[in-house]
Amino acid sequence: MRLAAPRDPIAWFRAWFREASRRETRLPEAMSLATAGRGGGPSTRMVLLKGVAERGFEFFTNRRSSKAAEISRNGRVALLFHWKSLDRQVRIEGRAVALGAAECDRYWATRPRGSQIGAWASDQSRPLSSRAALERKYRALAARFAEGPVPRPAHWGGYRVVPARIEFWQGRKNRLHDRIEFRRVRGRWSARRLQP
Ligand SMILES: Cc1cc2nc3c(=O)[nH]c(=O)nc-3n(C[C@H](O)[C@H](O)[C@H](O)COP(=O)(O)O)c2cc1C
Repeated sequence: MRLAAPRDPIAWFRAWFREASRRETRLPEAMSLATAGRGGGPSTRMVLLKGVAERGFEFFTNRRSSKAAEISRNGRVALLFHWKSLDRQVRIEGRAVALGAAECDRYWATRPRGSQIGAWASDQSRPLSSRAALERKYRALAARFAEGPVPRPAHWGGYRVVPARIEFWQGRKNRLHDRIEFRRVRGRWSARRLQP
């Protein structure tokens, strides 16, 4: 891995993501999302990458979930990809910003109907009395939305993680792994190699 390779970490990410999409047997788009909880303690969970652009990395969720509450208190987050088949890791740190309604609608329209109804059925991260209660709620909503498109709940939407730091890690022999770190300073990316 040459430091002189792509100077643009987003282009680099896209190239690695394309390779991961060919090689990983399942969910190359799965990434861990770390947020800061109350008191500053970290909290992490998996989400799915649904878009990557120069401006950042997008995922969708329930905006009343625990992660959304944490993001609203502190927008600083971290993402992590691990592609085992390629022995690669990508670490991203940045700030999560809510996507606009039009962007959320666009992605919502591509979701399977069952997932759309599921989004209505789940008050994500809240306590649930039983599995049966959730399934009853889903059936009632499926009947309510029997006809026509399922509207997007106002509390369901996406975030874009605007990166300030991106690190590419490639496993190599004798633990002499490659690590290339990009940092964005005043709108420009600069890169350096880190010790493994
Ligand atoms: C592979 C995988 C992908 C997931 N993708 C998402 C996702 O894109 N959006 C989401 O809200 N939850 C997703 N989840 C569930 C979350 O990990 C988590 O359980 C949920 O969002 C509630 O998190 P919170 O209580 O911290 O808000 C995924 C879980 C797994 C294992």
